[in-house]
Parts: sequence; C-alpha cells; structure tokens
Amino acid sequence: MKKICSVVGARPQFIKLAVVSRELRKKYREVIIHTGQHYDYNMSDVFFKEMDIPVPDRNLGISGGTHGQMTGQMLIKLEEVFLEERPDLVLLFGDTNSTMAASLAAVKLHIPICHVEAGNRFGTLESPEEVNRIVTDHTASLDLACTESSLEFLEREGLGEKSYLVGDPMYDAFLYYSRRLTGDETCEILDFSGNKVTLPREYYYMTCHRQENTDTDEKLDGIFSAMESLDAPTVYPVHPRNHDRAERLCSERKYKNIILTEPVGYKASIALVNGAKKIVTDSGGVQREAFFAGKQCVTVLDFVVWPETMKGGCNRLAKPERDDILEKLASEPVFDETYRPFGDGRSAEKIVERIDCFLAARG
Ligand code: UD1
Ligand code: UDP
Repeated sequence: MKKICSVVGARPQFIKLAVVSRELRKKYREVIIHTGQHYDYNMSDVFFKEMDIPVPDRNLGISGGTHGQMTGQMLIKLEEVFLEERPDLVLLFGDTNSTMAASLAAVKLHIPICHVEAGNRFGTLESPEEVNRIVTDHTASLDLACTESSLEFLEREGLGEKSYLVGDPMYDAFLYYSRRLTGDETCEILDFSGNKVTLPREYYYMTCHRQENTDTDEKLDGIFSAMESLDAPTVYPVHPRNHDRAERLCSERKYKNIILTEPVGYKASIALVNGAKKIVTDSGGVQREAFFAGKQCVTVLDFVVWPETMKGGCNRLAKPERDDILEKLASEPVFDETYRPFGDGRSAEKIVERIDCFLAARG
C-alpha cells in the first residue's frame, strides 16, 4: 500500500482533513503529521474528536513566533520526518504557514505534493496566506482547485497541466456534518469565564481573526461598533490571537450587544451559521459556509477570497468601519438556488481519484 503523509496544523485544515482522510484511508496508508500550529483544546483536539479524524501519528509542537520563525522551525522538523517516513506523496491543504513549510521540505526531497484548495489569489502579497498559497501551488505536482475561478488562476500562472477542478471539501464537510446535527451543538458554548452561554433567539454570527483586522484596536473596534448597533446581539467566538484585545475593548467601550465566547467546535460553528440572521467574518471558511447555508454575509477584508460567494450580493466586502459594515449588512442579496459553484459534495472522492491517477502514472 502506498504511503501518503497529510500535513495539517490549523483549524480549517482539520476540517478538510476530516472528509479527505475518510476517503484516502480506503486505499492508502495515511500518516497524519500535525505541526502544532494550533494547539489549544478548542482550536485542535475538539475537531479530531467530534469529526472522527484519526489521532495524528506525529505532533511537531511548533507554534507562535514570527512567520519566519514558525515556518523555519517547521521546515527543519518536517524534512526530518519526511526522510524517516519516505512517503510516496505529501498531501497539503489551504494556505497556512504549515502548508508552505511542508511544501518546501517535500519539494527539496523530490517528494511529490498534492495541494488541495489550490489557486485562490487575493492580488496582494501583503496577505501571508497569498504567499503561502503561491509557493505551494508552484512546488506541487498536483494542484486541486475548489472552483472554476481558482482553476483559471492556476492556468494563468502556467500551472494548467497539473491542475484539476475537484470541488470544495469544505462543502463536503458542511453537508456531511449538517446532516448529523442533533440540535444540542450550541449548548456547550462557553464565555470567557467558563460559563455556558444562552443563545438569544435571534443573533448575528461573527468570526474575526485575520491579523489585518485584529492587530490594532482601531480596526477591531470599528467592527465591534457596527455589531453593537445592530437589532440583535452578535455571537463572536474569539480566536486566541485576539482574545485579550477583544475582552478589553468590549469592557472599555461597555458594549452590551456582543457576546464574546471561547472558540467553538465545528458542529457548533455550522449550527451558528445555520441559525444566524446574518454573518460578519474575515474567515475564508465561514464566508463559504454562509453561502452554503443561504445566509447573507459581510466579509471584512480588502480583497475578494471566494468570488463565487459575491454573486447577487450574497457576500460583500466591507472596511473595518461601522458605517461601511452597516451599509453592506442592510443591502438585499439575491440568492440563486441553482448556482452551485463549490461542487456536488463529493470532492474528497475526486481528490483521491486524482491522486490515484497521478501515482499510477508514476508507477
Ligand atoms: C492561521 C493561518 C490563517 C488561518 C488561521 C485559521 C498562517 C499564516 N495563518 O492564522 O491562514 O486562516 O490560522 O484559524 O498560517 N494561538 C493560541 N492557541 C492556538 C492557536 C494559536 O494561543 O491554539 C496563538 C498563537 O500562539 C499565535 C496567534 O494565536 O500567537 C496566532 O496564531 P497563528 O497560527 O500564527 O495564526 P492564525 O491567526 O491562527
Ligand atoms: N470555526 C469553528 N469554530 C470557531 C470559529 C470557526 O469551528 O470558533 C470553523 C468555521 O465554521 C470554519 C472554519 O472554522 O469551518 C474556518 O476556520 P478559520 O476561520 O479559523 O480559518 P480560515 O477559513 O479563515 O482559513
């Protein structure tokens, strides 16, 4: 049986791994390597437990520091691990520092790489994710795109011959786990004091973790002041990156309409997406989930991440400023039920089929 090393490190990668690993293990010996980038229970273990992802074979325990420090340490360690494991292929997801470090380690050892969620381009190297994705797409032997627009970016960069459209494993996950929700998922959401949160009947769901929005008071507070003036409370599970800033700002400004919580598990998150009036986020995953659920979304970023979600105004960009966010939230989106740009929910199967063809051709 051929061996595949799947490398993950951050929350959205665990979610993609959950659906892909299930298919992959039918045919391959999978070794899961967790870099350690995300390490809190509610940023890592909870996903492995509730989504039935096999326990990682290795955890490298590397997190924090500057981008260079984190990526460099991962590169050194991953090279050692790949030399020991000698996989036939390295499987990578998305655009985190873990993804790029693994791509550099593998390509230098001449181990082929399959990159899932290849091809997104934001148009700015100021975004660390853009750098990670470009490096990974160009070093990979197999680039698997979620959407037509991602495939077009790959073709424009001369990568068309090794690129294929497979659909979005986040859509697979959304369909698979939505069918398994029991209604109790949001009962265990905790506030910062460890007390259970009682969800209001109506609420907005917000997530916000990008360094662009959370590294200064001004931007995060611009977003908060918009949410504070809405007609229902906002439920905001806070990423550990900006836990302290969020807590301090809400306390200093005496905000009453923003419910800060600890990060939630995947099932609770999609339950919140499904139950929310509208969604405000800077997350690549949450803006797609809003689209899957037919919920209006405002994305607080300067650049489009998933152009498909913007059709009909279902998702709009806003600056991290009160008036802009409120104006975008007040607009009327038009959802087209027949428009399904993220595939048919069988992207994991297509990913494994593409890997089969690639490895069979290598002999
Ligand atoms: C990373 C990814 C981003 C992705 C996000 C998903 C990069 C460059 N960024 O951003 O693409 O959208 O994950 O959530 O790889 N921290 C904790 N506990 C944890 C995890 C992080 O305290 O469990 C702290 C770290 O110590 C660090 C900060 O949060 O100081 C930021 O974490 P990091 O992994 O560098 O970046 P993310 O913002 O999570
Ligand atoms: N998510 C979660 N718990 C949270 C916030 C988000 O499970 O407290 C889920 C969310 O539903 C989506 C994924 O995490 O499936 C998105 O990850 P994140 O926003 O961290 O990264 P991005 O998608 O921006 O790379």
